[in-house]
Amino acid sequence: MRHLMSPLDFSVEELDQLFDLASDIEHTPEKYAHTCEGKILATCFYEPSTRTRLSFESAMTRLGGKVIGFADANSSSAAKGESVSDTIRVVSCYADICAMRHPKEGAPMVAATKSLIPVINAGDGGHQHPTQTLTDLMTIRSLNGKLGDFTIGLCGDLKFGRTVHSLINALVRYEGIRFVFISPQELRVPDYITDMLCEKGIPYTEEIRLETVMPDLDLLYMTRVQKERFFNEEDYVRLKDFYILDKAKLSLAKENMLVLHPLPRVNEISVDVDEDPRAAYFKQAQYGVYVRMALILTLLGLAK
Ligand code: NCD
Repeated sequence: MRHLMSPLDFSVEELDQLFDLASDIEHTPEKYAHTCEGKILATCFYEPSTRTRLSFESAMTRLGGKVIGFADANSSSAAKGESVSDTIRVVSCYADICAMRHPKEGAPMVAATKSLIPVINAGDGGHQHPTQTLTDLMTIRSLNGKLGDFTIGLCGDLKFGRTVHSLINALVRYEGIRFVFISPQELRVPDYITDMLCEKGIPYTEEIRLETVMPDLDLLYMTRVQKERFFNEEDYVRLKDFYILDKAKLSLAKENMLVLHPLPRVNEISVDVDEDPRAAYFKQAQYGVYVRMALILTLLGLAK
């Protein structure tokens, strides 16, 4: 039995197979409409989510399966003091696969050790968000044409953003990638990540002003300042609008640069950017469904 805790749980070859499957699902969805009939996905979400939970539910439903679950810790037995280990043992009796989001780093991993069914980490605290990373990689592969040989700017909350940490982890396995980290001092990418890049000899630079580096980028990954991970409101208020990507700033970018964002967006991308052909974030959300469909099939052993 296989779980997904980190994007590194799959080899680069396995990821290629997963993206090929997701792409086949995108182009011939009818072939897959009944592949999960009789199967149940449990979504155990101890933290707010729109995209991740609904895209999992949409994915399972589009495969012909059913979905059970909770969207908020207060409506589960966690509110009565039940441990994640006990909850997953019980969920294992009710469902065939589980997607779990938790504010505590490592909670889905603890669940996986006690689970009788595959567990997917749907985001654990500020740590990892592997299915968002699969979505990001699939989007880059589909819209950029290849995974490798590009300069990617990651902008915003690089300290608390789990999507950022997961994506960097996954990208270091591809050739020819240069990272540009754009953040205020307080929200710098953690040292363990820059240490890892140094060790592997992967080029990166750090910058505060987005405008300075914009012309160099092939991809720009914008992120929200993660309000829920701040210790005090004052710091959040000071930093929340540090970056706002608008038409004027985007005019400095390459004509074919892609703008990605895991969403939800707050103010960091102005709505007038949505009409620009380089804005790929809603398309990215669509890829999130295909990739989760492919993942469910793979973990259930139903992928051909
Ligand atoms: C992200 C998350 O939950 O980490 N959202 C998502 O799953 N698409 C990003 C965020 O909340 O900023």
